[in-house]
Amino acid sequence: MEYKIGNLKLKNRFLLAPMLEPNDIVFRLLCKKTGCGLTYTGMFSPLSKQKLILDDKPAIQLFGNSEKGIESFIKKYDSEVRLWDFNLGCPSKLSRKLGHGAFMHKDFETIVKIVKTMKRSTKKPVTIKLRKSPQAIELAKLCEPYVDAIGIHARTIEQGYSGEPDYDFALKLKKFVKVPVIYSGDVNEKNAKKILKDFDFVFVGRDAIGNPNIFSELTGTKSKVSFRDYLKLAKKYKLFFRQIKFQGMNFTKGMDNAKGVRRELINAKTLEDVEELVKTNK
Ligand SMILES: Cc1cc2nc3c(=O)[nH]c(=O)nc-3n(C[C@H](O)[C@H](O)[C@H](O)COP(=O)(O)O)c2cc1C
Repeated sequence: MEYKIGNLKLKNRFLLAPMLEPNDIVFRLLCKKTGCGLTYTGMFSPLSKQKLILDDKPAIQLFGNSEKGIESFIKKYDSEVRLWDFNLGCPSKLSRKLGHGAFMHKDFETIVKIVKTMKRSTKKPVTIKLRKSPQAIELAKLCEPYVDAIGIHARTIEQGYSGEPDYDFALKLKKFVKVPVIYSGDVNEKNAKKILKDFDFVFVGRDAIGNPNIFSELTGTKSKVSFRDYLKLAKKYKLFFRQIKFQGMNFTKGMDNAKGVRRELINAKTLEDVEELVKTNK
């Protein structure tokens, strides 16, 4: 079976949700290895000078409230990515202050300008990721002529990341548009396939953190990875030590001796300390 977003063919419908801190290059590579259909970076400003490593050929998510810098940013990285997404879902205090993400929903004109600019700048698919709001469905309709799919995190700004996602709201949005819809909100190993009866794709979010093997479970792929694989690649990509420790913490999820390992991770001062810890906790 072949699945498509615009002209992009995907091998399955399980996508890694954009997540700023967890989705570093190594984590994304591991998710790809375990079968993830498409990996996403976290949100990036097109004005950022930070060098992006894109060896997994991911989708890049952009954010901001103007089209400034978008065209040149897309031109710079276009050959290394598979899709471009725009963030209309971030609920953070900083986004509130700057009028980004989910705080832009009333500014139809700017949003349409941005997605038009994105569409004009690339032949790759362009998508938006919305959050539930009073304007979200109208926005989806307005953007539809310029986007190849629409993501919906079915929670409001006020809910942040907790509470029940509003599945019916996402279903309603799905009914209003013809482009594929990517559902986001508490997708896990148990419910993903059921959700895919109603939606075209799913974003696996927090359930993937520290657990890239969720994609092998979902897709039936044989390959399994561990923190040992993360560590090896993190050395190759020279990731910051604090990022390695952060992911180490994430990988302890579900471990029998999680508490003890976390304590040791907190105390680890060097990469060698972490390597030693991995050796003793096979
Ligand atoms: C640590 C973290 C970082 C996130 N960063 C982003 C981001 O950069 N862009 C975005 O669109 N959503 C971001 N999200 C939201 C997720 O993509 C997803 O929509 C949300 O977590 C709901 O899915 P879940 O309930 O399965 O976790 C983030 C979520 C978490 C937990």
